Amino acid sequence: MTSIETKTNKIHFSVSGYKSINNYITESNPSIIFILVDENTHNYCLSPFMATLETDKQIEVVEIESGEVNKTIDTCVGVWNALSELGADRKSLIINLGGGVLTDLGGFVASTFKRGIPFINIPTTLLSMVDASIGGKTGVDLGTLKNQIGVINTPQMVIIDTAYLSTLPQNEMRSGLAEMLKHGLIQDRDYWNKFKELSRLDLNNLDALIYDSILIKKHVVDIDPNENGLRKTLNYGHTLGHAIESYFLSHPEKNSLLHGEAIAIGMILASYISTKLTNLSEADFNEIKDLILDVYDHVVIEPEDFEPIIDLLKYDKKNAHGNIYFVLLEDIGKTKIDCTVSNDLIIEALNMYNLSL
Ligand code: GLY
Repeated sequence: MTSIETKTNKIHFSVSGYKSINNYITESNPSIIFILVDENTHNYCLSPFMATLETDKQIEVVEIESGEVNKTIDTCVGVWNALSELGADRKSLIINLGGGVLTDLGGFVASTFKRGIPFINIPTTLLSMVDASIGGKTGVDLGTLKNQIGVINTPQMVIIDTAYLSTLPQNEMRSGLAEMLKHGLIQDRDYWNKFKELSRLDLNNLDALIYDSILIKKHVVDIDPNENGLRKTLNYGHTLGHAIESYFLSHPEKNSLLHGEAIAIGMILASYISTKLTNLSEADFNEIKDLILDVYDHVVIEPEDFEPIIDLLKYDKKNAHGNIYFVLLEDIGKTKIDCTVSNDLIIEALNMYNLSL
C-alpha cells in the first residue's frame, strides 16, 4: 500500500514501513533505541518487530501494564525513570509498539523527556491504527477523566502492519471499528455505506477499510491540527461517550467498557440528539442505531447513572467559557460543531438508548 504523506510525517504500511524505519535509524543514528511495550505486545508483537530491525544499536525494552487504568502520570514517571536509568539522552529514540493507551502515553513521555525526543508509533490495535497513533495527540488521563493532560506532537513516522491484528481479541476489534464508523459518519457517506455490508466483525477488505479510515483522519488533521474547528468533528460521539467511559471506569462493579464501545453508545446518543437539533433524518438515525446495535452489546445505563454522567460532561476538552459543546450530524457525512444541548434532551436520548434493546 502506498505510504500516506501528512503535513508533518509519513504513514507507512508493512514492508515499506520496516524499510523506512531502518533507513531512519541509519540516517538519524540514535544513541539508544527504546521500545515501549505492554505485556500483550511483549508477548505477541515484540519478536516479529525485532526481526524486522536491521541495526547494531543498543536496544532497550521498557514495559508498562496494559489498560486504560494505567494511562496515568504515575506510569509516565516509571517510564521516565527507566529511560533515565538506562542512559537515555536527547538523541535517543522511542518506538511505541502497542495500542492507543501505549501510543498516547509513549508519545507524551517522548514529547516531555528532556523537553522532547523523537518517537515512532507502531500501532498494534485497530483503534490505534485508525485513530490514536495518527494526528499527534499524546497524553494521559487524570484519575478517571480522559486525556486531560497531554500535548500535540507528531511522531517521526507511523507504521501500520495489520498482521498484528491477528492476535487482537474481538472486543478490541470492535473498539477500533467504532472510530472507523465515526470517520464515515462525519466525512463520507460512501465510506459509511461500506459497513452496511459487513456481518459483524467478519471484515472483508479490512486493509482497504483501514487505509481509507486513515485517509479521512489525515484529511481532517492536516486542515486543523490544533482542533480549532474541523478536528472537533473527530469528537463525534465522544462528548457523552467519554463521560460514559469515565463513569464506568470509576464504577468497575457495573460494567467494563472499552473506549470504542463507549463511543459507539455516544454516537447513538449524538445521532438521536441530531434528529432533534440539526435535522438528521429519522431514517439515517435508525440506520446508525441499528448498525451499531448489531455489532455492539447493549449496555444498561441505569436512570441513577444519568446525573453523574451528565456531571462528567464539564470535563470535556471541547468545553469553553463554561459551555459544553457537542458535535452533531446534519446528514451522514456532514457535521455541525459547537452545538449546545439541554440536559433534558440528553436524558431523553439516554432513555431512548435504554429502550432500544
Ligand atoms: N481522536 C480524536 C483526534 O485525534 O482528534
